[in-house]
Amino acid sequence: MTKEKNEQTLVLIKPDALKNSLTGYVLSQLSEFHTGLRFAGAKIVHVSRMLAEEHYAEHRGKVFYPSLIEYIMGLLHYPDDPERRRVIALVYQGPDAVKKMREICGPTNPHVARETKPGCIRALGTVVPLKDAAGNKIGERMDNLIHASAVNDEAEREIKLWFRPGDFPPFMRSYPTEINTEDHYYFKNGKLHTKHVTDSICLIAPGDVVWKSDLDALSLLQKGAPSATSLEAVAAKYLMNYTAEK
Ligand code: CDP
Ligand code: MG
Repeated sequence: MTKEKNEQTLVLIKPDALKNSLTGYVLSQLSEFHTGLRFAGAKIVHVSRMLAEEHYAEHRGKVFYPSLIEYIMGLLHYPDDPERRRVIALVYQGPDAVKKMREICGPTNPHVARETKPGCIRALGTVVPLKDAAGNKIGERMDNLIHASAVNDEAEREIKLWFRPGDFPPFMRSYPTEINTEDHYYFKNGKLHTKHVTDSICLIAPGDVVWKSDLDALSLLQKGAPSATSLEAVAAKYLMNYTAEK
């Protein structure tokens, strides 16, 4: 759903915001009073590498990508405290949700945010130099406290990556759902199975209410056919908070 009054967008309160106790500040900036947007979904997530890599798939190969993955996983802000590595994932709903959230966040680079939009959330972020093994500066990492979907298609992909249909109140599910009437789907070591094998984890069982796009993807992938949604994008969600990542 992208239209007018029920548009949805994904927001992540990133590990640097949690570490600096800015959660309350961010939530109050995003409140319905300030934005006209309502909560549709909320969860606390220990971000797995699979989820991080799917979320930031478009940045794969860029110089800041490895540190971005470590950042969103909480490895940089909580190197010695795995239990504190979390983000808060939120879905907001309302008129122009995507655009409004991006505006309140402000520019990606906190230096630019401070100069061009003082008062926006990302103006409170930091920019950290990235160095190679020899200590030469090779780029910058932007710790900017918050993520918000940039456009409607991205919002749909991201909301389906972080949330299941059952995470939303019934009138706040924006994308088509289906009850799985077919196979069990299990996951182990990057592979999909329709029968349980030792140490595999069940992603979807018959009777589960899931995004239709996930079922379509699994049914194609199981036949070895190409799918727009990757196996990792489906698995990362159903395995969310299952395992502790080192
Ligand atoms: O988050 P946004 O959509 O504004 O920016 P992006 O270009 O999609 O980049 C995703 C995230 O990567 C940013 O929010 C930054 O945390 C990080 N980034 C970075 O560390 N260094 C860059 N040169 C660009 C982005
Ligand atoms: Mg982006």
